[in-house]
Amino acid sequence: MSKSIEDIANMELNYEAFKELAKKQDLSVYEKIGFPDAYRQGFENIIFEDIRNKADLLNSTQKVVLDIGSGCSELSQMMKDICKQNQHELIMSDSEEMLSFHKDENFITKVPGLFPKTIGDIKGLFSQVDIIICYSVFHYIFLDTNVWEFIDKSLSLLSSGGQFLIGDIPNISKRKRFFSSEQGIKFHQDFIQDNNSIPDVKYNLIEAGKIDDSIIYAIMQRANLAGFDAYLLPQNVQLPMANRRDDILIRKP
Ligand SMILES: C[S@@+](CC[C@H](N)C(=O)[O-])C[C@H]1O[C@@H](n2cnc3c(N)ncnc32)[C@H](O)[C@@H]1O
Repeated sequence: MSKSIEDIANMELNYEAFKELAKKQDLSVYEKIGFPDAYRQGFENIIFEDIRNKADLLNSTQKVVLDIGSGCSELSQMMKDICKQNQHELIMSDSEEMLSFHKDENFITKVPGLFPKTIGDIKGLFSQVDIIICYSVFHYIFLDTNVWEFIDKSLSLLSSGGQFLIGDIPNISKRKRFFSSEQGIKFHQDFIQDNNSIPDVKYNLIEAGKIDDSIIYAIMQRANLAGFDAYLLPQNVQLPMANRRDDILIRKP
């Protein structure tokens, strides 16, 4: 039986929990990667277009691509398809359990395990990776590992002109800005079907485990100071969480 939005939303997800989701027979591919169907079904084409527009080297040919946290939904299939079509080499980083959904193909190298701990397994690729995609994964990396190790090691893999997209980052500051706005209040009222309800937005809180503007801007500054260009980009407004999620694109000059 399919899990409800609440069941999935209430799960404490991290790298280990995703392994368990991957093994559950009764979940949809979206639920296996931690999303209620309503957040992904019918949207993955738009997500992929958004990724391709930002990490546009995907549209050229014969690049080295690293997908951190590939998952197992159609989005991972789209990534494999574009890599095959454009003769890219694709390195897929995720748990053994998630990677088992992807059959072995000659353009794919699987690196099972928690990134960046697995970096040693791809060490031949320092300064050789043209495109790194980390989509809807950073908030788990933020909980499971050292963020700066993740950023520094990922940057060290990038080739000259390389692109690193850290996409779909839930930003609690952006969420608060939205739900304090006229549009956000209307969105909330439409969602719960009560025109008198006001979203519960609290400021001046210690937000343990949450990503806020300070983290987003610190990542960008860290990359800038290491010699990379970093950009904060909005998501396509058609995406269900565009009003509270951010994308960071880092480019090596
Ligand atoms: C929300 S899913 C996103 C999957 C895919 N990127 C997408 O957007 O459809 C998160 C994925 O990241 C993987 N993951 C989480 N932390 C990871 C880490 N530190 N290293 C590699 N994979 C990780 C999980 O196993 C899961 O497959």
